[in-house]
Amino acid sequence: MTKLIQIDDLSFLNSDSWKENNKTYCQELESGNILFFPKCPLPFPQEEVSFLLEQRQTGSANRKNIAYKPQSDKITNFVQSSPAQGQRLHEIMRTYSQRVSAFLSQLLAPYAPTWRLDYASFRPFQEKGRQLRTRARNDLLHVDSFPSRPMHGARILRFFTNINPTESRHWLTTLPFHDLAAQFGGSSLPFPKGIEGTLFEKIAAQVKCSARALGLPLVLRSPYDAFMLNLHNFLKENTEFQKTCPKDHWDFPPNSCWIVYTDLVSHAATAGQYALEQTLIIPKEGMVNPEKAPVSTLEKLAQKQMINSAYQIKK
Ligand SMILES: [Fe+2]
Repeated sequence: MTKLIQIDDLSFLNSDSWKENNKTYCQELESGNILFFPKCPLPFPQEEVSFLLEQRQTGSANRKNIAYKPQSDKITNFVQSSPAQGQRLHEIMRTYSQRVSAFLSQLLAPYAPTWRLDYASFRPFQEKGRQLRTRARNDLLHVDSFPSRPMHGARILRFFTNINPTESRHWLTTLPFHDLAAQFGGSSLPFPKGIEGTLFEKIAAQVKCSARALGLPLVLRSPYDAFMLNLHNFLKENTEFQKTCPKDHWDFPPNSCWIVYTDLVSHAATAGQYALEQTLIIPKEGMVNPEKAPVSTLEKLAQKQMINSAYQIKK
C-alpha cells in the first residue's frame, strides 16, 4: 500500500551529498509513495492566495478547473470579471508553474533533463458532493489517464498544493497498481491485443498517422493508453470495488503540498476545496527505475508489447 514520505526540512537540497546522489525521492515516487510537505516548500505570498480564493466560477455547465498551459502561456476555463483580474490570474498561475518547476528541478533532479511541463490547474470547487458524471468524478478511486492526450508509456507526475486556509484536502488510495492490474487485467478488463494488430488495423493506423501529419487533430492511442483509459473507467464504474476495496485515508492540511504519480497510485479526492496542481510528463526512459512504470507491469502481465512508437507525436 502507499506510504507517505514526509519532508520537513529542505536544507539538504544545497548539500554536496544530495547533488551527487539525488535519486531517493524519485525512487519513492516510482514505488507508489506520496511525498508530503506539511509546509508549502515554494514561495506563495498571501496576496496571491487571497486573490485565488476570491475567484468565482460559474454554475454546472462550466464546472471545470482553471487551466494554465505553460507551452503556450495561455489560461483557460476561467470567468473574467475584468481585464485586470484576468491578467492577475494569468500571472499567478504562470508564477506557480514556474516555481513548482524550479523546485522540482532540484528535488527530482534526475527527471529534469527529460520531463515535459504539462498543464497547471486551479481547482476551486468543493469535491465533497460535487455533481459530475461518473467518469469525471474525482471522489471515486481511479488511476489517471488523459482521453485526448495519450501518454504512450510516459508518466503522469503531479504536484498539489492545498491553499484552503482552514480545510484539509481528503484523499483515499487503494491497492498497488500491480495488484489492480493482476486482479482485473485479462479477466474483467481484457488486455489489448498488442501493437501487431490485424492487417486492416495496421492500414487504418497508417491512414490516421498520415491524416494527423496533415494537421487533423486525431488521437492515436497505443494499446497502453487504451488499457489505462479502460482501467480508469472500469474502476470508477465498479460500485463493488469502490465499496469493498482496502482504503488508506490521507488528510492534506492547509498550506501543505504533495507529489504523486497519479497514473500509478489509484486515488480519490473525496473532500476539499481550493487546490493548485502542476503536472509533469516523465518519459519512461527518464525514470530512475523504468521497470516500475505501469506500462512495464502491464507488458509483463499481458506478455505483449503495448507501445506503438509510430503513434507518438515527434517533437
Ligand atoms: Fe485523478
